[in-house]
Amino acid sequence: MHPNLSFDQAPPISVPYRFFLVAPWFGVMAGILLAWSGADALASRWTPEALALTHLIALGFMLQAMAGAVFQFIPVAVGGNVWRPRLVANAVQPLLVLGTLFLVAGFLSSRFGLLSAAVPLFLLAVGGFVVAVALALWRTPATGMTLWAMRMAFGGLAVTVLLGTLLAESLARGLAVPMIELTNIHLAWGLGGWALMLLAGVSYHVVPMFQLTRPYPAWFTRGFGPLLLLLLLAWSGQYVLGDSRWPVATGALLLAVCFAYGAMTLWLQYTRRRKIHDATSLYFRVAMLSLAAFAVSGAAYFLIPAIGTDPRTVVWLGVLAIVGVFVSAITGMMYKITPFLNWLHLQRLGAPMSAVPNMKKMLDADAMTGQLRLHVLALLLLLAAVWLPGLARLAGVAFAGSSAWLGWNLICTVRRYRTFRDQIRAVALHP
Ligand code: HEM
Repeated sequence: MHPNLSFDQAPPISVPYRFFLVAPWFGVMAGILLAWSGADALASRWTPEALALTHLIALGFMLQAMAGAVFQFIPVAVGGNVWRPRLVANAVQPLLVLGTLFLVAGFLSSRFGLLSAAVPLFLLAVGGFVVAVALALWRTPATGMTLWAMRMAFGGLAVTVLLGTLLAESLARGLAVPMIELTNIHLAWGLGGWALMLLAGVSYHVVPMFQLTRPYPAWFTRGFGPLLLLLLLAWSGQYVLGDSRWPVATGALLLAVCFAYGAMTLWLQYTRRRKIHDATSLYFRVAMLSLAAFAVSGAAYFLIPAIGTDPRTVVWLGVLAIVGVFVSAITGMMYKITPFLNWLHLQRLGAPMSAVPNMKKMLDADAMTGQLRLHVLALLLLLAAVWLPGLARLAGVAFAGSSAWLGWNLICTVRRYRTFRDQIRAVALHP
């Protein structure tokens, strides 16, 4: 057992699995939507399809999967105790699913009443989730930068959802708010303050453990989260105060911080003593290369006017961040967590260790590698489709296919858990 992990308070296996099993199918919906909409969907960030695709993945895929991982991670890695995890998950998940479907339907149909209908669902779901997690994160006696990054990430999630609900209500009721500025603040908190902060905090813990690298340097973990938070406050402040002097400087610093995290993780992978090339490591490499490409493209967006004024540049940045960084890193993480969850819960059934199958038997390595290849192909096609719209349908089909394959791989893992569990129970009954 890893010295920094405590499994006594791990939630029932159904808690993380219910989120993991649902997440990929939102990716499938996103792929089908793109395949169905075709060339125009990616023409600018403001098309109804682009907004729907963004939230199918940000809320349907990312938030679902991250919620499942957090339920598992908090008790096991930072010793926190989420209050009645099964009850919280039972309440939060259906609200999240319904809210996401309403929001996406509202974007696609331009019936803004649907956006309004999504608002109370998100306030309840994310509100309940954030409170349950925040209590656990504040009560734990643990210390360290993973814990602080998680605390900041949940603050980021709350800000994102509050701003999202304000945007949705403004569209539904025609409120006179500065939509573009608010959207820019909302997206920075959603992708930076929530998703990247959580990813970084979790990776301080799991990259050295799962990918056998050296630990992240202390100066890096102490500096990254607070600096990111400070820059997000500056980014938001300049819009709130209507101060247009600093956007390039704040944007450039934000990009530099993103780049630093990507480069540091790649460096740790590159300098590790034992080279492993399993799906998690490769997925993380794809994610970090995408993050580096995002930072470089973002710099071009700010510095080269011809690139900055092309509406497709922001879509390119969005594909790199959402599919390249987050879908990749989250998928890689799920491929590591789920076999481990199976093993952990099987060995808790009380059978002798020798009766519990090896983690490698929980998820077929070839299936993971095949799915990873299709995901990389889908990512490349999506990026190409931003500039060559004729490729949009093919990119959509590839993304739907890779998400469905992920969904199927996870279903197989659960089926294997059930099979092994039944075998162990049968042996216990008839030794
Ligand atoms: C936590 C996860 C979330 C993330 C990562 C996220 C991300 C984003 C991004 C990247 C955009 C910009 C899209 C673009 O420029 O094409 C956006 C816009 C928007 N988001 Fe979210 N979002 C999240 C949650 C929400 C929620 C919960 C709501 C509503 C209840 C919401 C409502 C909106 C609206 C209405 C817009 C578009 C505003 C407009 O048309 O100007 N978002 N979001």
